[in-house]
Amino acid sequence: MPTEPAARAASPSPSVERYGEGNTELWLPPTGSSRGPARRRAIFYNPAMALDRDLNVAFARVAERRGSPVWDAWEMLGATGVRGLRLVHETDAIGALVITERDPDALVVLRRNAESVDPDRVTIVAGDAAFVPPGAPFDYVDLDPYGSPIPFLPALFRALTDGAIAAVTATDMMVLAGVTAGACPRIYGARPVRGRLAPESGLRILLALLDREARVRGFGIHPLLSYVQGHHVRTYFAIDRSELGRTSPVGVIDPATWKGPWIAGNGPFGPMWLGPLGDPEWVRRLRPPPVAACPKETAAFIARLIEESEVDRPFYYEPNELARRVGRTEPPSVDALLAALRARRARAVRGHPRAAAIRTDAPRAIVEEVARNLGRPV
Ligand SMILES: C[S@@+](CC[C@H](N)C(=O)[O-])C[C@H]1O[C@@H](n2cnc3c(N)ncnc32)[C@H](O)[C@@H]1O
Repeated sequence: MPTEPAARAASPSPSVERYGEGNTELWLPPTGSSRGPARRRAIFYNPAMALDRDLNVAFARVAERRGSPVWDAWEMLGATGVRGLRLVHETDAIGALVITERDPDALVVLRRNAESVDPDRVTIVAGDAAFVPPGAPFDYVDLDPYGSPIPFLPALFRALTDGAIAAVTATDMMVLAGVTAGACPRIYGARPVRGRLAPESGLRILLALLDREARVRGFGIHPLLSYVQGHHVRTYFAIDRSELGRTSPVGVIDPATWKGPWIAGNGPFGPMWLGPLGDPEWVRRLRPPPVAACPKETAAFIARLIEESEVDRPFYYEPNELARRVGRTEPPSVDALLAALRARRARAVRGHPRAAAIRTDAPRAIVEEVARNLGRPV
């Protein structure tokens, strides 16, 4: 959509320029050559999260296609507003959007961005996101902090109705992945897995915490889409009173008795979410936005998430690790492993956290046998 001349006229701040992300033109800090967040700038904008926001658009378009009523939405931590305003401009999922932000410089830009996208549907509230703004309860709440989402969870849950959807990001991967010693048990109440499976373990620790927080308020959570991407994890989940009646899939992993992919270290690990990361009904309907910020990467990531939704099991194997475990000098190829597992009537797919990740429902003994014998004469 062309930018109206008034919106283009004068910059609201010397630190922003008018340009587009996806199909939405906004006032944003220049990205320069850096792909990371501009932490020293007052106005936060992280171009490296553009793919994540493409996924957010894709997710909201699934709601639209499923015929969900339009959402009254709250974006708790707005910054430039790029995340929520892209949903308003690029989807029909949003009926009304409230965005909170407390930084005065960011607010100037946020207000101009909201005006240029849709002043009738978007309300900016200056203030602390720890307090639920007018307009609650909401059908959709986004919590996209720098670091841990924990300080904002009480407000997030207060703002949701039964059946509502929340999206929560955590970028404190040093904590969730156990790199900062002692921090994960102290902050998330869980023992983290370290090493190659750490990001997925971090995502599952976050989901376990969200499940606990929901349960004390009389809800269960139903993950619709959850993933590890770059240096963060993010989950979209519905809160549902009926989920409370089901046994929570949160558990602790003891490597001595765990039958899934090997987990290094002594454990026990968790508590973590050991149930599905997504709802295949939602994940299979994901399509890249027609005008994506990162068309190729977003399409590839979505394709991987869809493939993976067929075998949504905790953790994954990788050819290198498998070769080491079964004493092969050369790792087998991912394609060969997938074909051999499927020939054994197991379900096996590529997983999203790493290029060579393989998720399967085959018992570990079968995976080892397949890896050991692959390429050997029968
Ligand atoms: C990580 S940024 C949000 C990024 C944004 N969702 C995006 O996609 O670009 C976090 C923002 O929250 C704001 N913020 C931090 N603490 C806040 C609070 N307690 N209440 C309101 N805003 C807050 C910061 O000023 C910053 O602009």
